[in-house]
Amino acid sequence: MNNESVVMIGLGYIGLPTAALIANNGIHVHGVDINPEVVEIINAGKIHIVEPSLDEAVATAVSKGFLKAATTPIVADAYLIVVPTPFKAKNEPDISFVEAATKAIIPLLKEGDLYIIESTSPIGTTEKMMRFIYSERPELRDKLYIAYCPERVLPGNVMHELVYNDRVIGGVDDLSTQKAIAFYSQFVKGELHQTNARTAEMCKLTENSSRDVQIAFANELSLICDKADINVWELIRLANKHPRVNILQPGCGVGGHCIAVDPYFIVADYPLESQIIGKAREINNYKSFWCAEKVKSAKLEFQLKHGRKASVAIMGLAFKPNIDDLRESPAKYIAQRILQDSHDDSCFIVEPNIQDHKVFKLTPVDEAVDKADIVVFLVAHNEFKKLNIDESKIVLDFCGVLNLNN
Ligand SMILES: NC(=O)c1ccc[n+]([C@@H]2O[C@H](COP(=O)([O-])OP(=O)(O)OC[C@H]3O[C@@H](n4cnc5c(N)ncnc54)[C@H](O)[C@@H]3O)[C@@H](O)[C@H]2O)c1
Repeated sequence: MNNESVVMIGLGYIGLPTAALIANNGIHVHGVDINPEVVEIINAGKIHIVEPSLDEAVATAVSKGFLKAATTPIVADAYLIVVPTPFKAKNEPDISFVEAATKAIIPLLKEGDLYIIESTSPIGTTEKMMRFIYSERPELRDKLYIAYCPERVLPGNVMHELVYNDRVIGGVDDLSTQKAIAFYSQFVKGELHQTNARTAEMCKLTENSSRDVQIAFANELSLICDKADINVWELIRLANKHPRVNILQPGCGVGGHCIAVDPYFIVADYPLESQIIGKAREINNYKSFWCAEKVKSAKLEFQLKHGRKASVAIMGLAFKPNIDDLRESPAKYIAQRILQDSHDDSCFIVEPNIQDHKVFKLTPVDEAVDKADIVVFLVAHNEFKKLNIDESKIVLDFCGVLNLNN
């Protein structure tokens, strides 16, 4: 298959790298974003997000004329929807961006076009969009190819993984699946696995729910071990000596825009059936609350013993080690709770991956540790691994940075 032109709706962390990759394979891509600043930056051959090698890919694609950006779509042969799918109040998925993006291209569709959703979506979204399209354009019924293909790249390695990761591709019918596979085979070197749209949608949700459930198991063990006076890190290390056991590490909760979000897309639609998935979300959220309560107790004990308020070093704000991303970060939540009942001058927040923050006043690692009575490790950043902490200080290590042999 040789697609003459592609419209990519949504030029963010996933849409822009994908648009650049497709364009650099000699296919004309018209990128669309509702944010005019994003459009302007891309048309200047520059990028608005941080991702290794993306700047080069976009500069090349734009200078060769294969990638253009605009705030509105044009007629093309394939349409890719890569817009956000956040959740609303009550943890229900919000597919309004997918609906808006679809609505914008409906007037442009013609017989034989390919429509693909890549946004992480609740089960049935692709079929729902198919019904929406055909209700507006009944003359095109069964004359379009409609498919779902989730993205599973790791930020920081997107340009490599876009090409080499396996992809799961599910059409609303067999012909749609084949057409979508032919499309991706132009620029993906990983294996392309075919299925139907509903299975492909659920596959993405399953991948992240699986991780969330496994982390919840480790977090549950950490709560039990705390009460039972057992070192959970040692316990897991020993249990993992079993040839068929592989327990993950506990932490201060689960964050980020995928693992902490996607399981809700299952729970919202299948609440009775998704007992473990729902409970895992609760356990991982509770773990953050529990960590904040532990810090409060340690502060109270200190005050009773020493007759003055304890100063606290909060080590890490990011949602995982060695990144600067604070989205849905449990460490950020815990820091906010600790700050609520502390004076500014008795709380030192450390995040070595961020220079400045609008809300949090940041303190360098050594200074914070030096000034604190209680040192709370929330994220296992490399900078924290080799710290020598004076024995007089109280240490709460919720991420195992001092306990794991990293
Ligand atoms: N970022 C990741 O690592 C990752 C990984 C796998 C899957 N996903 C999924 O991919 C999808 C996109 O995520 P992202 O991280 O690229 O989001 P993002 O927020 O970085 O980018 C989305 C872009 O879409 C634009 N947009 C919103 N509505 C629009 C509309 N109606 N028309 C045109 N543009 C519109 C926004 O302005 C934004 O620039 C989400 O469903 C996400 O869950 C993301």
